[in-house]
Amino acid sequence: MLLQAEGLRVGYGEMMALHGISLQAGAGEIVAVLGANGAGKTTLLRTLSGLLSARAGRISFDGHDVSRRPAHQLVRLGISHVPEGRGVLAELTVIENLQLGAYARGGVRKSGGLDRVFELFPVLAERRDQPAGMLSGGEQQMLAIGRSLLARPKLLMIDELSLGLAPRIVHQLMDLMHTIKTEGLSVLLVEQNVHQTLKVADRVYLLVNGHIAFQGTPDALRAEGDLMRTYLGTD
Ligand SMILES: Nc1ncnc2c1ncn2[C@@H]1O[C@H](COP(=O)(O)OP(=O)(O)OP(=O)(O)O)[C@@H](O)[C@H]1O
Ligand SMILES: [Mg+2]
Repeated sequence: MLLQAEGLRVGYGEMMALHGISLQAGAGEIVAVLGANGAGKTTLLRTLSGLLSARAGRISFDGHDVSRRPAHQLVRLGISHVPEGRGVLAELTVIENLQLGAYARGGVRKSGGLDRVFELFPVLAERRDQPAGMLSGGEQQMLAIGRSLLARPKLLMIDELSLGLAPRIVHQLMDLMHTIKTEGLSVLLVEQNVHQTLKVADRVYLLVNGHIAFQGTPDALRAEGDLMRTYLGTD
């Protein structure tokens, strides 16, 4: 397993947000975490990327115990995190934002990969000298993903890929997840867009109030009508 988390307990002050979460992601796998608002999805991703520390449990990544490693070391080991809200720097140009992604890997030239990002997202090449704040929501998400790819990750974690985006763009970005996967990268997707996510994921976890309420294949989750209706609001 590329990523293996066991028994993660994470809280904010007195409030526990994750009550013993175990999760795995293999190389070349798309793993999705679904759950309603406040379920703990962002807390989980921030813990896996070293931005929050767990009170209990352990995380191993690519053969290393990374339970207590800070975020910048995890980036070097190959974990890249597209945060909720994208984290694009609006005043900086597209190319400057991309350079930030490559920084952890010794800069754009050494990191390579810029051509590949422009190939995946031609619009970023067209807009390379414009401030990122002038891009549409979908283009900003592409920029955030491109920036993460420039850190040459083994695992790309994306918090709410589809949030606020038109269905056509969501579809395009989900297709891209598939392309990335065929190149051997693993993807951990946190989502509320149930249907699009179940189409692209290999395995899925359902997070309910900081507990894993289900894990299995998308087909197995679709068959759990009660869980789908109660926690994901689908009919
Ligand atoms: N900085 C914080 N301080 C205190 N409590 C927090 C903080 N961040 C999150 N929480 C709480 O932790 C729980 C899990 O929040 P989290 O943001 O991880 O959920 P989420 O599944 O990402 O939700 P959403 O779908 O709204 O993004 C919630 O009860 C939330 O109120
Ligand atoms: Mg969240």
